[in-house]
Amino acid sequence: MNAQATFTHDAPPVLELENVSIAYDGKPVVHNVSFSINAGEVLALVGESGSGKTTTAQAIIGLLAENGHIEQGEIRLNGTDISQWSQRRLDALRGARISLIPQDPTSSLDPVKTIGSQVAEILDIHQRLPRAQRDARVVELLSRVGLSHPEQRAKQYPHELSGGMKQRVLIAIAIALQPALIIADEPTSALDVTVQKRILDLIDDLRREFGTAVLLVTHDLAIAAERADRLLVFRHGKVQEQGITAEVLSAPKSDYTRQLFADVPALSGRHRAQIRAAEDPVLVVENITHDFTLGGKNQAAFRAVDHVSFSISRGTTHSLVGESGSGKTTLARILLGFQKPDSGRVLIDGEDITRLKGEPLRQLRKKIQLVYQNPFASLDPSQTLFKVIEEPLLNFEKNPGGCTP
Ligand SMILES: Nc1ncnc2c1ncn2[C@@H]1O[C@H](COP(=O)(O)OP(=O)(O)O)[C@@H](O)[C@H]1O
Ligand SMILES: [Mg+2]
Repeated sequence: MNAQATFTHDAPPVLELENVSIAYDGKPVVHNVSFSINAGEVLALVGESGSGKTTTAQAIIGLLAENGHIEQGEIRLNGTDISQWSQRRLDALRGARISLIPQDPTSSLDPVKTIGSQVAEILDIHQRLPRAQRDARVVELLSRVGLSHPEQRAKQYPHELSGGMKQRVLIAIAIALQPALIIADEPTSALDVTVQKRILDLIDDLRREFGTAVLLVTHDLAIAAERADRLLVFRHGKVQEQGITAEVLSAPKSDYTRQLFADVPALSGRHRAQIRAAEDPVLVVENITHDFTLGGKNQAAFRAVDHVSFSISRGTTHSLVGESGSGKTTLARILLGFQKPDSGRVLIDGEDITRLKGEPLRQLRKKIQLVYQNPFASLDPSQTLFKVIEEPLLNFEKNPGGCTP
């Protein structure tokens, strides 16, 4: 995700759609769609079948069906509007500046040509390399996408390869000229889960290595959640919602998005955990319970804190509200390590502080601090303010630096 910052400095987005509407035979199916993708970024276009994902992807790359037409709007590639370009100009762009990784690897390769010659074709169309150099580049590309024995593989025909291998060949073709944008329309839906993962990892490597922008079209919400920097949710040909993946998932703006992702079983486990990790919680409170014994004959207990759980992300401010005696201060004292809870954990930067003792507990004070309720009771009246402020610095810093009264 950090690649974004490296590649986008001052440059226009690699792809920008503004108010794009598309119709088949005059009947609109995509309505006023706007979004952009920066270099090194993965945008997932998600939505149910028939929502217009493929239509949008095809329009970008100049592969709309004969009866399809871009009715309005701009499609800018590195700042240049290509929405009205002729087929001939778009053909020249395809493969060189924009590539497509198609859904079905089997129907996308020519069965009567070796895979090596199919990779060579894209190089021949756009570059004039001497033959030996071109063939070396073909082998290099096949190796780059993780095919073993690339020299021998280059001489094989598509039917001699598995589905995952064929998809790798198509990716080799897609990346041959290092395009600025790769459009992957359901690139792994024909593949089994382990091959799927390897293909998606490969796309991710290329994005990082070359700063390629990726439009990942998928109906698989778990893949979108795991792989995309940003999500674009489509419904009936309209943008329902878009935003940073973790934000869309943790706080969807529309009921539609909430429902869409609520039903994804894979999101309840590993993916949700990853999303939470992405939010970077600095404090995680798990199931904290604390009882005070009230003394007396039968040692009656009073439950001050009862199974409390929450987490706090870095850089955020939270309020703990409740009436007097509801357990706010007890909980705060537990978070500071002043009080051990009867059950539960308090993780600060991933470390359970309820188990700390001695020096590690003392070191915790560098990470978490309390501003007291009552200033009069909290400052030692016999010390100057300088002494009061100096004390924690002397406690933790070997050399607090040149401050003098
Ligand atoms: N060539 C075509 N002619 C007429 N309608 C089409 C054509 N291709 C797609 N459609 C219609 O356009 C809508 C969007 O389809 P599509 O872009 O394939 O959706 P998705 O990829 O999200 O499943 C659907 O209603 C579909 O039936
Ligand atoms: Mg589709």
